[in-house]
Amino acid sequence: MTFHILTIFPDFFRGPLDYGIVERARRAGKLDIHIHDLRNWTQDRHRTVDDRPFGGGEGMLLKCEPIFDAVESILPGRQKGDPDRKVVLLSASGRRFDQALARDYAGLQELLLICGRYEGVDERVAQHLIDDEISIGDYVLSGGELPAAIVLDAVARLQEGVLGNSDSSVNESFSEPGLLDCPQYTRPEEFRGWKAPEVLLGGNHAHIREWRKQAAREKTARLRPDLLNS
Ligand SMILES: C[S@@+](CC[C@H](N)C(=O)[O-])C[C@H]1O[C@@H](n2cnc3c(N)ncnc32)[C@H](O)[C@@H]1O
Repeated sequence: MTFHILTIFPDFFRGPLDYGIVERARRAGKLDIHIHDLRNWTQDRHRTVDDRPFGGGEGMLLKCEPIFDAVESILPGRQKGDPDRKVVLLSASGRRFDQALARDYAGLQELLLICGRYEGVDERVAQHLIDDEISIGDYVLSGGELPAAIVLDAVARLQEGVLGNSDSSVNESFSEPGLLDCPQYTRPEEFRGWKAPEVLLGGNHAHIREWRKQAAREKTARLRPDLLNS
């Protein structure tokens, strides 16, 4: 799968995409990730990407022309609604990103993520260019770069061959709708008097499966009761 990230801070992604599963998958050619500097699509000598909002108010907005030009040159010929190539705007007021949406995006050929900055983005981008407007949670961050890295990571690890067997995505939180992952333990069997559950040490796989199912339900009820009723 190919990811594109459109940002005014391309260097921001040096760290987050250079470690662990994503880095390994990039090196193995399972993921193709392109970071695009929005300023490359500006037309003036100052490479201006922002301007003051009409009607007044604080801060600046990202202008629509460089964003339209960038998207149209990165994904030539794409129409809004293309089933294989989606353009997503990261936005605090967007639809909440979740595992179901990550699974949807994992089936795409190309995903282009637009990172907002300042007070946000000229609304015509949301109205006429993108397919989805996505939020990673009900709080406001300074830019769309961290959210873009989060969306990319969640979608990337669902790609065929990105996770090894040792870190499969099958038994994780949300792999079964409305359920968190079960509690897990590793050595030592006893730490400061706290013992790992006996059943996990036994090797009876039917019992372990049953215990894990029940423990996952209990954990979900304790930490995320909203999921059980969803
Ligand atoms: C300071 S925010 C703009 C906030 C905007 N004025 C508002 O009140 O909704 C700048 C950029 O950060 C990104 N951003 C901030 N919070 C986000 C969130 N919860 N999810 C996704 N993107 C977010 C968006 O790309 C946004 O355009």
